[in-house]
Amino acid sequence: MRKNRCLKTLIATLVPLFCLAGQLVFAEELLLKTPADYEGPFYPVTRQEDIDNDLVHVKGQVGVARGDILNLSGIVVNTRGEAQENVIIEIWQTDPQGRYKHPGDSTPDARDPNFQYWGAAITGPDGTYYFKTIVPGAYEPRPAHIHFKVMKAGKVILTSQIYFKESFRESKRFSLTPQTELQTAELKKAEKGEFQAYFRIVI
Ligand SMILES: [Fe+2]
Repeated sequence: MRKNRCLKTLIATLVPLFCLAGQLVFAEELLLKTPADYEGPFYPVTRQEDIDNDLVHVKGQVGVARGDILNLSGIVVNTRGEAQENVIIEIWQTDPQGRYKHPGDSTPDARDPNFQYWGAAITGPDGTYYFKTIVPGAYEPRPAHIHFKVMKAGKVILTSQIYFKESFRESKRFSLTPQTELQTAELKKAEKGEFQAYFRIVI
């Protein structure tokens, strides 16, 4: 009889504890999604032959793009932090003079024939991606940025922009906001005078 009462007391104590543990698991903090940002007017309109993840070499050209080389890597995860495989990331950006390769960009002078301006990468099983590109040039009045689109199963699920902490430090007109902070990477000096940046995309 006494044994039964002890057992009941034990169950009465443990059940709420299990429930609480379950709630804690569900209350696990989810990652904030990478905010959408406007596409801008210079999304490529002309299909180019070379749209790989190496933007500093263009098929058929022997030279290397002008500017500071940027090794841009990162990962695509969902809000639970799980790596997302087979996600396509497209980037398009300016050259060091802040010029897009787009008929609507009237910034003068010829474009760099050795810079690809637009590229794409696909995430591997670990969700990671990589681009070899250059540090984009800023154009007034915006801080330097790289535009990107994320595509999954043939659909565009996010259009946004990557900013750089350094651009905000240098800018008198722009400062980091809670939104842009989620879109901002840090430019770091790497070997051979190149730069590197890491950017996580949460979808
Ligand atoms: Fe732009």
